Amino acid sequence: MASPLTVVIIGASGDLTYRKLVPALFNLARKGRLPAEARVLGVARSEYTDDSFREHLTNKFRYELSGAGEAFDAPAWDEFMRRVRYLEADAGDAAGAKALADRLAADEGPGGGRRLFYLSVSPKYYPAIAGHLAGAGMTQEVGGYRRVVIEKPFGRDRASAVELNAALHRHWREDQLYRIDHYLGKDTVQNILVFRFANTLFEPLWTAQYVDHVQITVAEKVKVGRRGDYYDKSGVLRDMIQNHLLQILTMVAMEDPSRFTADNLRNEKLKVLSAVRVREPGAAARAGVALGQYDGYHAEPGVPADSKTPTYAAVRLEVENRRWRGVPFYLRSGKGLADRYSEVMIQFRCPSHLPFSLPAGEVMQCNRITMVVQPNEGISLNFQTKVPDVDGVHLKPRDLAFDYKRSYADKALPEAYERLLLDAIQGDASLFMRADEIERAWEVMDPIIAAAEAPDAPQPQRYAVGSQGPAAADELLKAEGRAWQQVG
Ligand code: BG6
Repeated sequence: MASPLTVVIIGASGDLTYRKLVPALFNLARKGRLPAEARVLGVARSEYTDDSFREHLTNKFRYELSGAGEAFDAPAWDEFMRRVRYLEADAGDAAGAKALADRLAADEGPGGGRRLFYLSVSPKYYPAIAGHLAGAGMTQEVGGYRRVVIEKPFGRDRASAVELNAALHRHWREDQLYRIDHYLGKDTVQNILVFRFANTLFEPLWTAQYVDHVQITVAEKVKVGRRGDYYDKSGVLRDMIQNHLLQILTMVAMEDPSRFTADNLRNEKLKVLSAVRVREPGAAARAGVALGQYDGYHAEPGVPADSKTPTYAAVRLEVENRRWRGVPFYLRSGKGLADRYSEVMIQFRCPSHLPFSLPAGEVMQCNRITMVVQPNEGISLNFQTKVPDVDGVHLKPRDLAFDYKRSYADKALPEAYERLLLDAIQGDASLFMRADEIERAWEVMDPIIAAAEAPDAPQPQRYAVGSQGPAAADELLKAEGRAWQQVG
């Protein structure tokens, strides 16, 4: 019989529990993919009993479902709720951690069991909780593994990330730590590797010889909402570019691992990050960077009236290795934009010789591959066609397209947390970030962020809510004879 397995959610009274974690575990259970022996233990300081905690989760979940217009599967939910328990304790102090250790030991019985600790708390508590769990003996793998799952932000620069990693490593081995970047949990991001490495057609062209440049876009329609206080101290460079966009960049640019294992994969990703040129500190680090702030940002709750925090950034990066020499990677992300839309676009070079003449003034759009991460997930290959039934040869670009919804009509794309929680339970760290990746990603971003935050830094350029972002982002590409792909 399988040993007991407990997913311990520390900070279980917070939003993430009912918005993401419990729904993801429920969906896994409903699909028969959550191990039958898995139990969930919510831990927080709030006063709940097992029953009132379940009631709280049920109410919130039903409310979220009705907001999304989805049906509530009461029998399946009730069955899942029987696997959920609650412990009132503060895992950030010794007494609370001891209470948790006792509770788990009592639930598991003498043989012990497997434990996945999900720290759903502010990152400032990670070192204390990781330390107290260890202090109460919970790093000892009695009857099964002990793993800790944490989410960004992992520091706010390289120095603080190194400090955080050191604090965690004081008690936990690196292979016990699962650091989430939820973009890696998206099927469409994982598919980048399959597209590249399980096909013959594309990979040979995936080099500086054929690729002119790469665009990575994560556009959001939402504004900062209630997160103004957090967001203003981060800005888009820390909140999105340092993690999600750089992670996507590694998937686009990495070499193929000899075998698809967590360490191979992360070694290859680290090599890409190590090849990204780090700018000299100071004002020069502003070259190739366009920052914006949406109109009205200053009036958001928690945002100071004179904030220079960028809510939009476009950044030009270079990967200095043989494959990518001279190919710019343009990354852009922002809030308060026209649409929610994420994609990777590979712009290929034009044919070295074109035997067809173009009408005067017309510029040919050369081949593009666009991988849409969300929504309308899919991949399209844009290529030139001959317009039929006209005199002479007229060219027009058209798409060959793959659309997830049509091709996988019976399979909805899962929420990132489903994949990530299941992988952490099963011990597959491929989609989690290693300490060295995080530290290197900060090393790349530190000079850019410091230049944006310097006292003499200009105010980010304003842009209208619902627009495509600041004009400075367009100028960045225009100056290099390029243009952003229109999104949406
Ligand atoms: C989070 C950021 O990591 O990602 C948020 O902190 C952002 O600011 C979110 O809104 C975007 O995620 P998704 O999956 O909705 O694109």
